[in-house]
Amino acid sequence: MRETLTIAMPKGRIFEDAADLLRAAHFQLPPEFDDNRKLILEIEEEKLRFILAKPMDVATYVEHGVADLGIAGKDVMMEEERDVYELLDLKISPCYLAVAGLPDTKLSDVAPRVASKYPNVASSFFREQGEQVEIIKLNGSIELAPLIGLAERIVDIVSTGQTLKENGLVEYEKICDITSRLIANPVSYRTKEQRITELVNRLAAVI
Ligand code: PRP
Repeated sequence: MRETLTIAMPKGRIFEDAADLLRAAHFQLPPEFDDNRKLILEIEEEKLRFILAKPMDVATYVEHGVADLGIAGKDVMMEEERDVYELLDLKISPCYLAVAGLPDTKLSDVAPRVASKYPNVASSFFREQGEQVEIIKLNGSIELAPLIGLAERIVDIVSTGQTLKENGLVEYEKICDITSRLIANPVSYRTKEQRITELVNRLAAVI
């Protein structure tokens, strides 16, 4: 008997791209996929169960083994070291991490501050640049920080660049490109190897 595979999907901006990729790989997603209130969705015929999680939490579900697989942005993987395997670059939801701030401004000499949803990434980036900065962790609307004087720089995701533009901010440095990855729980990867390989192959064929 085929065992059920549980996949943690990120709610929000990656969800649509991930669902499109699954459809392209001929998974018959149920109509509930378009109604994002339901948090657990199943495709009976494929023996697949999807759990809909906050993007930052996907790797947590996978690491704890309650999801065998997950779709997580490289940004999330870089921010938190997790005991999971990265199986595939799905090449969806491309964006990049960048340092931004108000135009023609410098980091303060006295107490430079950087706001970010990615404190670890931001901290290593500035350390490598030889800059000692205080990192201020925010959970969203990061672009507010320089506008109201909380920080001189932000480290955040840039996709279209529209949010920076509309808030009068400019990019100072690009840190790295980001796409979404298929990740796996190491134990599931051994015990459900055949099913996982089958799914990886179906996805890889349409990337
Ligand atoms: C992300 C990111 C930027 C914005 C970038 O925020 O933090 O604010 O998208 O996209 P753009 O370059 O296309 O404008 P998100 O919408 O995920 O919400 P958040 O503010 O809660 O992080």
